[in-house]
Amino acid sequence: MKKIFVICGSTRKNSTNHRYIEAIKKILENNVQVTDLDSLINIPHFNPDDDNENAPAQVKEFRQQLCASDGIIISTPEYAMGIPGSLKNAIDWTVSSSSFSKKPVLLITAASLGQKAHLALMDVLNVIEADIVEQTAILIPFANAKIDNNNHITHSATEQTIIKAVQFFQNKL
Ligand SMILES: Cc1cc2nc3c(=O)[nH]c(=O)nc-3n(C[C@H](O)[C@H](O)[C@H](O)COP(=O)(O)O)c2cc1C
Repeated sequence: MKKIFVICGSTRKNSTNHRYIEAIKKILENNVQVTDLDSLINIPHFNPDDDNENAPAQVKEFRQQLCASDGIIISTPEYAMGIPGSLKNAIDWTVSSSSFSKKPVLLITAASLGQKAHLALMDVLNVIEADIVEQTAILIPFANAKIDNNNHITHSATEQTIIKAVQFFQNKL
């Protein structure tokens, strides 16, 4: 059974990105095992001095979860025209460990507009050698208005785009 690790770039309780993740889980085929990162809140601030075998326990666990996965899903908002600090912070811990290397990534940027964070994340994922391609990188502007509180994507073009991306992602696992 293929393993998928999921990172929500928002730490907010009623997160839109969390709802998109739940919608994606319903699209995923049954023969996958999905594990969610508990919360980015628990990942300590990146410090190069601790970026070794004595890394904080939460970082070690985060790296192990990434390494154990066959593919990674990230769904994130944009903050202040960029990647949310807590998500970028977590990714910074994985540069030396190469935890993303060769892993297929499904990237969703669900924000008001989101283009800058989306493109920045593509650059970051490329530099850490993640397997990220256009077909699995979806920008959802006006994201709040396209999903309801029951995790149902109400904007059919967005739903179709996500279904296609999820299928493409699963074929890469
Ligand atoms: C501090 C802050 C800054 C934001 N800056 C941007 C921005 O620059 N561009 C954008 O498209 N959305 C911006 N947003 C809106 C969020 O990306 C949007 O509401 C997103 O859907 C929130 O995701 P969430 O519901 O998963 O937390 C910002 C939101 C916050 C809280």
